[in-house]
Amino acid sequence: MKTSVDVSAHREGVEFADGVYWVGALDPNLRTFDIILTTANGTTYNSYLVRGSDGVAVIDTVKENFSDEFFARLESVADYSEIKVIVLNHLEPDHSGALPELMRRAPQAHLYISQRATSMLKALLHGEADLQYTTVKTGDSVSLGDRTLAFLHTPFLHWPDTQCTYVEEEGVLFSGDVFGCHYCDKRLYNDLVGDFRFSFDYYYAHIMRPFKKHVMDALKLIEPLHLKQIAPTHGPILRDRPRRYVTHYRELSTSALARSIGEQDRSMIIFYMSSYGNTARMAEAISEGASSIEGVRVSLYDLQGGETDPFVDLIEEADALLFGSPTINGDAVKPVWDLLSSLAVVNLKGKLGAAFGSYGWSGEAVRMIEDRMRGLKMNIPVQGQRVKLIPTDEELQDCQDFGRQIAEVLVGKPQEKGVIDFADLA
Ligand code: FEO
Repeated sequence: MKTSVDVSAHREGVEFADGVYWVGALDPNLRTFDIILTTANGTTYNSYLVRGSDGVAVIDTVKENFSDEFFARLESVADYSEIKVIVLNHLEPDHSGALPELMRRAPQAHLYISQRATSMLKALLHGEADLQYTTVKTGDSVSLGDRTLAFLHTPFLHWPDTQCTYVEEEGVLFSGDVFGCHYCDKRLYNDLVGDFRFSFDYYYAHIMRPFKKHVMDALKLIEPLHLKQIAPTHGPILRDRPRRYVTHYRELSTSALARSIGEQDRSMIIFYMSSYGNTARMAEAISEGASSIEGVRVSLYDLQGGETDPFVDLIEEADALLFGSPTINGDAVKPVWDLLSSLAVVNLKGKLGAAFGSYGWSGEAVRMIEDRMRGLKMNIPVQGQRVKLIPTDEELQDCQDFGRQIAEVLVGKPQEKGVIDFADLA
């Protein structure tokens, strides 16, 4: 029979491995995190304490206004004078908020952070001019006597500073936000809490997804570990079959499209909206021109249905994205903006982009779309294609050439005049 746990009943640390304690805080009433994340179950700020034969370490702290709960739990399992080591795996305020006060209460403790965390630390602790700390990376460790903290350099998960810490003797990985989720449950462990699968995947999709490459790099360090438990900074402690979550992260971070069309093909997706069929005709001509280039797989999508979510996966895995919109009242049309504004969860940096569209008298939409793509750090190798009202045969030929030219850039074919990022000229 499973042992029941209720960490809301008292403010005491919970030992979940020999000498390893949860000393975090519950935030069941939070409904939005970082402005954009819905937290229907609230969240937890997980802090941990490791007791070795030669001192105590605290791994991460909590959001500042949850400090009382954190310090109460910490005091239930250790004296401040015993704290030898403080590790911050991630300096976002939900984990560093109680750090200044912890360092005042345990001034003898030495702080360990990643190299990239140093500038953030200075901004965080303006008043602590003489703060002493050591930066660590993969291969570095600190001894607590019979417990060893080994560090893993896992940047950009999801900030530049992030790292993980592993207690070798207990097989516990303090993973930071990785493997975390916003799910508050007083029963603490993954085998006791409610069904948090949605929260786990939702968290990955909004926090980790833009950094898939960095997730894969981190998994190379994490997968060889002897993992008995994963202790993230949010949500349940993953004590039951922790490796399932590692495998799931690999699945979530693996490109499905690359497997199905083959690594050698480059994917170009053309999205468009059309009022009178003119931008649609342009899209078809552009598609025809691009498709004539070997190794480019072109897809054409009409945004008339208004839905954007189904396209996000495609966009993430595409190599080139073209957006076509008529100009109406000096603007691109709403479905195009809806799609372009729903892409914060994917990494578009370096993808090729282009815009096109028919217009009546002013034609601002094309340049506005280009500006947005530039803001998303896409490369715009060819100036946008505009046609006044109904495209002539000659203009449709220009559209074909436009598509062909972008496709040639996509497959690395040298251009006669060289390629200019027209977004830079704006
Ligand atoms: Fe949970 Fe990135 O802070």
